[in-house]
Amino acid sequence: MAQGHEIMTVNSYNGGQITGWGIALGNDLVTNHDLASRMDTSDEWIKERTGISERRIGGTTAGLAVQAAKDALEVAGCSPEEIDLLVLATTTPDDQIPATSAMVQHLLGLKCGAMDLNAACSGFVYSLVTGFGMLALGNRRILVIGSETLSRVTDWEDRSTAILFGDGAGAFVIEASSDQSALLGWELSCDGSLRDILHAEIGGTIVMSGQEVFRKAVIAMTESALTSIKNAGLTPEDIALVIPHQANIRIIESAMKRLHIPMEKSVSVLHKTGNTSSASIPLALVDAVEDGRIQEGDNLLLVGFGAGMTSASAIVKWGGST
Ligand code: COA
Repeated sequence: MAQGHEIMTVNSYNGGQITGWGIALGNDLVTNHDLASRMDTSDEWIKERTGISERRIGGTTAGLAVQAAKDALEVAGCSPEEIDLLVLATTTPDDQIPATSAMVQHLLGLKCGAMDLNAACSGFVYSLVTGFGMLALGNRRILVIGSETLSRVTDWEDRSTAILFGDGAGAFVIEASSDQSALLGWELSCDGSLRDILHAEIGGTIVMSGQEVFRKAVIAMTESALTSIKNAGLTPEDIALVIPHQANIRIIESAMKRLHIPMEKSVSVLHKTGNTSSASIPLALVDAVEDGRIQEGDNLLLVGFGAGMTSASAIVKWGGST
């Protein structure tokens, strides 16, 4: 992957903390058995090759984002008027124009700027890092959302892609704080020369070279994660929990092995969500929070990869109450 700058030290004087979170999933449950009744595949093959058992589809990108964001605002105990900026990660906007974030801003009653950020499945981490950057520029509270309706760009006749994707959203409130920043290190990368291995034309559906994406994903995730860990002044042993992009359990296993971090320290929700692109890391993170797997002071590694190809990672010291 084309690397960004090697060392990106976080300015801890303009810190921020995660104070709220929420999620949403598409209404309709689609199991592997449902897919097997429509195309030449099987529950066994999908589970063995991907780790996915079922996914939820339906809704709009704005609708799922609003649902997740309402919970995040409630957990943070802040009103819509108190949000200074909305960053919405999505690769499946509801309209070409305007940005989906404009609809979310309106539906939530926010009184602030709003923008979409498309870095495919790395979008949530790109947005989180952008949000922390805007806290450093003086914003007090930022709403960061990853929301996707991939079912709308999935070719439901293509068994090599239809089995993978689902719809969902995850939202986080980040707030300026005088304490050390929760963001200890980060890394963002992109290599646009790899466009052809995973893409969808405007109005089209996802086309993918599965094996090539798989190979590149493992390398990109590992390199990005190691750079972030180094930028945070940490080692892999210091990571309490890894929240990886939820694309394929075998990709997660390979990356964890290369990072020399035991698989038990990773979070996986893909068996019940499929790949929800920029919603996948927040869905997994909230799952871990709700399961009581995260303690105050834990160093979390968030790491994703996606079309572009992009990759992104962030080391977050958890300070939010669970
Ligand atoms: N059910 C049954 N058989 C299937 C199938 C399905 N849903 N999809 C593909 N196959 C078949 C292929 O046709 C092929 O058959 P052949 O050997 O007779 O030609 C065989 O299974 C193996 O295909 P292959 O593509 O090598 O499988 P794989 O082990 O690489 O798994 C993916 C395919 C897509 C699951 C896997 O490559 C993958 O997850 N890649 C990464 C995708 C990804 O993460 N994308 C999003 C990035 S954000």
